[in-house]
Amino acid sequence: MQSWIPLVPDSASTLSWKVDALYFYLSGVTLFFSLLISAVLIFFVIRYRRRTPYEIPRPIAGSHKLETLWTIIPFVIAMTMFGWGAQVYFQQYKPPANAIEVYVVGKQWMWKLQHATGQREINQLHIPVGRKIKLIMTSEDVIHDFFVPAFRTKMDVVPGKYTTMWFEATTPGTYHLFCAEYCGMNHSGMTGSIIVMEPREFDNWLSGNAGSGTPASQGQQLFQSLGCASCHGQNGEGGRGPTLAGIYGQKTQLQTGESVSVDDSYVRESILNPQAKLVAGFGAIMPTFQGQVSEDQLLQLLAYIKSLAGGQTQAPATAGTPAATNARPAGSPTQNLK
Ligand code: CUA
Repeated sequence: MQSWIPLVPDSASTLSWKVDALYFYLSGVTLFFSLLISAVLIFFVIRYRRRTPYEIPRPIAGSHKLETLWTIIPFVIAMTMFGWGAQVYFQQYKPPANAIEVYVVGKQWMWKLQHATGQREINQLHIPVGRKIKLIMTSEDVIHDFFVPAFRTKMDVVPGKYTTMWFEATTPGTYHLFCAEYCGMNHSGMTGSIIVMEPREFDNWLSGNAGSGTPASQGQQLFQSLGCASCHGQNGEGGRGPTLAGIYGQKTQLQTGESVSVDDSYVRESILNPQAKLVAGFGAIMPTFQGQVSEDQLLQLLAYIKSLAGGQTQAPATAGTPAATNARPAGSPTQNLK
């Protein structure tokens, strides 16, 4: 598992070599110019040293050619850094559509994770090799940061909002997970491991750890027990609130005339602060659920509302993806395990 340069951590995701290549390019350019400038400096100091006490240097009038050259060359080099950096950045922070979703809640000082198939883990995440994994993350208290050096990716985990990150592991093994944002006394102990398994092994692990229902089904129970259904009926019964079937991922019209897309943040806001963005045609009658639902429960409600949109809690891998054989239909994966 040791990487080829001992200074660099293990490299185990589809992104890690891209980040490394960029990093080595930046280091290489920096090293090249540092050496060049040092060498030229030393050469000039010796070559043009004052040889007699009364020597007067020849004045330099300047050269447009030279100035243009040393403006354009650094500009071109800086633009390659910018272009390459932006390309890697967008790949890293734009999760692919067909990823397996895992919910993550950070708290002082542990990581709580739940798979879309229901399994819960603490400070550990089991994933299959060769599949895209998307984490939907939030925090119960302060800012944390989910950092997996071997995958060359990290993302802040922030209270009050959802952040996402994704990766696709390329090599089975166990990798470090760190909290990379100082979060209090035991920050340094807020570590864990990512366990990358062969797909078959992972399936065995999943079946050996069947949870108490998927996040979506737990969200559905909450939806009933909190009384959401009496206003947000499946087929619009009640009529006091908009029906939620099929709404996730769509645009919806607000009272203000604006339209918003119904995404993770909007669903979250609408549960905790219902009056912030009222849907056109409905009154400001929904009470806030701030303080009544935990971060885990919010994620379950979110998973349920997503599942109403047609199985998006866990987007099935499309035919043609290499690991499609490992795909499971959304929402049903553990049912055959009971
Ligand atoms: Cu959590 Cu540092």
